[in-house]
Amino acid sequence: MIRLNVNIDHIATIRQARRTNEPNPAAAAVICELAGADGITTHLRSDRRHIQDYDLIALKQVIVTHLNVEMAATPEMVEIACRLKPDVVTLVPESPQEITTEGGLDVIGRRGEIRESIRKLREAGIFVSLFIDPDHRQIEASAALEPFQIEICSANYAKLNEQPGDLTVRRTEEIGQELERIRSAANLATSLNLKVAVGHGLTYRNAGPVAGIKAIEEFNIGHNIIARASLVGLERAVREMKECLMGGR
Ligand code: PXP
Repeated sequence: MIRLNVNIDHIATIRQARRTNEPNPAAAAVICELAGADGITTHLRSDRRHIQDYDLIALKQVIVTHLNVEMAATPEMVEIACRLKPDVVTLVPESPQEITTEGGLDVIGRRGEIRESIRKLREAGIFVSLFIDPDHRQIEASAALEPFQIEICSANYAKLNEQPGDLTVRRTEEIGQELERIRSAANLATSLNLKVAVGHGLTYRNAGPVAGIKAIEEFNIGHNIIARASLVGLERAVREMKECLMGGR
């Protein structure tokens, strides 16, 4: 069974463009759930460029599926999570100038901080997922810290797929290799008793083959769903993404 978590950050991006009070991410979350989303994901960034702390409070109250909050592994963020108690926290790397998350955590290099964050979150009853690249060394280092899940970063796969150009210049071989990296990473993680999610840059055009990887249970998809929703409506956009994922299985 595949789960789709819809990342609703960019509903908040539209609101923050005018510093007003609409559209409301909590209202969007309810529509996503009614359309078949299995969970709601948000990224509470240190610069609060889209989702705000008060959004998390509202989301906690209205969501009936589950709330996954992405955040940096910093004491400030961990304290907020322990207070607000989302169902899941996904620890991600964050740098101030990035447009979006640029890749997975360096679990090997930042083992101490990440272990401490996991310990505090787990004590608060929160499940922890680690966002990492499809790299065997990072997966083995993650497994040693015993999160319940890893989320494999699909950014490289997505980037290769979305390059403009006609089909004659499509980098089919590299796309295939990147898909195999994700598959191999997912299989390794499963063998180490980790649940496996995937996310970043996935679209209606490229998500199907990833959904064909049986070890992956959860998809976290944001920008592309909200982009389509701006033209066809949120309910339809979520439903179509679920159909797209189910078609890949
Ligand atoms: N997963 C993680 C860990 C992310 O940081 C993001 C972006 O916030 C996503 C998934 C969703 O990526 P996209 O918006 O490209 O679908």
